[in-house]
Amino acid sequence: MKIPEGVARQYRAASNLRARMQLHERFGVSAQPWMAWVMDQFALPAQARILEVGCGVGKLWQENAHRLPPGWDVTLTDQSAGMLAQAQANLAGAGHPFQFEQVDVQSLPYAGETFDAVVANHMLYHVPDLPAALGEIRRVLKPRGALIAATNGERHMVELHELVERFAPEVASHRWREAFSLETGLALLAPFFVDVEQRRYTGGLRVTEAEPLVAYIMSTELIPADQRSQLTRFFQAELDCSGGVIAFQQDTGLFRAVK
Ligand SMILES: C[S@@+](CC[C@H](N)C(=O)[O-])C[C@H]1O[C@@H](n2cnc3c(N)ncnc32)[C@H](O)[C@@H]1O
Repeated sequence: MKIPEGVARQYRAASNLRARMQLHERFGVSAQPWMAWVMDQFALPAQARILEVGCGVGKLWQENAHRLPPGWDVTLTDQSAGMLAQAQANLAGAGHPFQFEQVDVQSLPYAGETFDAVVANHMLYHVPDLPAALGEIRRVLKPRGALIAATNGERHMVELHELVERFAPEVASHRWREAFSLETGLALLAPFFVDVEQRRYTGGLRVTEAEPLVAYIMSTELIPADQRSQLTRFFQAELDCSGGVIAFQQDTGLFRAVK
């Protein structure tokens, strides 16, 4: 099935994703950074072939570069050439060899039983034909290979959703809801995998500036560009009457599923 136009536009270049990542990087208050936590869940041997689908700008590998076993053979893929170019640039000095390929997860160009693990970090909710993608991931995994699939739950950043809905009531909450979520993932994975296990990440944000919040919201394209300064004033007023800080909950985690 074709990549939806909205997804292709959203991820043509790295700027939208970068705005969202920066909010987490600057204002996250978790004990352990997200990407480090994700890698902790891998539980893979020192020699392993790993495929990442929807790798974005390669953050997972950039942030964990210092602890990658030399025997890990890693292939990063994404449907967006722009994302892959940025990932390649980000990982140029990582000191580990990586392969990069422009690939749609719904149709993987790899032989069956090739990989020990497939990572799908916050991307399955973008895929129009999820059964096709899960079937492909299953096919390329070796027997007992693992899928690590990260996603959000329905309470993720709920305070931000509420603020946006107050600013623009026509942005109904269902537009934020994801098809592949912590609530739905188990049922969606069960036909393809065994031993599906959910693991939750504990984290949150304490945001003290309006502009990074505006950049985050504008990156989602939910609010028209000409309302940017109005949105800035709205967030600034919220900060002013909340003692200069707004707290957001992160409801996020992953599924580890075995072939
Ligand atoms: C929210 S970003 C996550 C990026 C990265 N995994 C991370 O966690 O930073 C989603 C990524 O999935 C990619 N993507 C969306 N649909 C895809 C598909 N059908 N096949 C491969 N990649 C896809 C997008 O281009 C984008 O880079």
